[in-house]
Amino acid sequence: MNNLIRRIDRTFCEKFGDLEGRLIIRSPGRVNLIGEHTDYNEGFVLPAAIDKAIVIVIAARGDNKCHLVAADLNDELECDLDALSKSGKGWPNYLMGVVDQFQKVGYTLSGLNCVFGGDIPIGAGMSSSAAIEAGLAFALNELFDLNVEKWELVRLSLNAENEFVGVQCGIMDQFINIFGKDKTAIKLDCRSLDFEYFPFKREDLDIVLCDTQVRRTLGTSEYNVRRRQCETGVKILQHFDANIKSLRDVSLNVLEDHRKEIDPVTYKRCHFVVCENERVVRACEDLQRVDYSSFGRRMFQSHKGLKEEYDVSIPELDLLVDIASTIEGVLGARMMGGGFGGCTINLVERHFVGEFKEKIRKTYNAQLGKDIKIYVSSITTGTTKVLEEEINV
Ligand code: GLA
Repeated sequence: MNNLIRRIDRTFCEKFGDLEGRLIIRSPGRVNLIGEHTDYNEGFVLPAAIDKAIVIVIAARGDNKCHLVAADLNDELECDLDALSKSGKGWPNYLMGVVDQFQKVGYTLSGLNCVFGGDIPIGAGMSSSAAIEAGLAFALNELFDLNVEKWELVRLSLNAENEFVGVQCGIMDQFINIFGKDKTAIKLDCRSLDFEYFPFKREDLDIVLCDTQVRRTLGTSEYNVRRRQCETGVKILQHFDANIKSLRDVSLNVLEDHRKEIDPVTYKRCHFVVCENERVVRACEDLQRVDYSSFGRRMFQSHKGLKEEYDVSIPELDLLVDIASTIEGVLGARMMGGGFGGCTINLVERHFVGEFKEKIRKTYNAQLGKDIKIYVSSITTGTTKVLEEEINV
């Protein structure tokens, strides 16, 4: 991590000088242990921030220009604070979108110099985009002394993604980026926004991510289609019960009672979400009882639902989960994030991790002739300011 921080800071200093008052921010990626596609249905999720991060180095300028630099892409962009418009390059939108939101809400900013880069694999389902957005929101708050509350930082960065970038994602990624806690998963109720800490008590378990390196070309459009299908289900069910505002309000019994009224595809989508919400609740009870085997079984069930009912998996992810289910020491495995690519999350007894890596790599390669990347991650705190003394440790 310190190497990464030093590298981004060096790029900043080469570009803009060794400015006093520059700020360094570490903004983490995330895993989601269980609770997929439930956030935008006002349900439950169980994410955790991890030790892969985006580092942002930023300083205020005297004029109203923003000079943005993507260190890893060797690319940059300059824009005016009062003339922000979507860029065809892609990456600047995550930053400009946040600046735009702050200004829309009425915060006064000045221009800025900003360099960012990191080690969260892009498009792997570990939320590199939320890390840029929420990291910048955190940075602007610090830099301009704005006194913005944590929840508002979440909201501003989510709005940046929804409105400026144009992906209708839910609140999970921005939430965990800001609220993440060391060695702890957080159950978020995406309706009330109440949250509860679940310390990860089995220290002999590792969270292992297997990245297919398939990037979700279909992801964004299909994601928005899934959202609409859930809304369609809610609209149908509202005819029978006006109190139903989202799939959160739907029980399995009610869904079964009206199965005939719902087209089969919408039914499958709704069935998955209703069951997945229930799984998160039960999985948190497992954590409380320190029953990680039961927790792991629910991860496998979650994958089955994502594959067969929600239709967001791909053969590569299915194969990784299948292989994982045959390896000793694996408690659970499932695809993670929006789907259509990215990685699986595996709960593995540390003792077996070496063997797990070797077997899953070999078997996957033998069947598909392709390689995966493997990351063993640990759970860290959410976005923080990096102190100078930390860099040189
Ligand atoms: C993406 C979105 C999240 C969430 C997941 C699916 O990661 O950004 O809001 O909907 O997909 O659980």
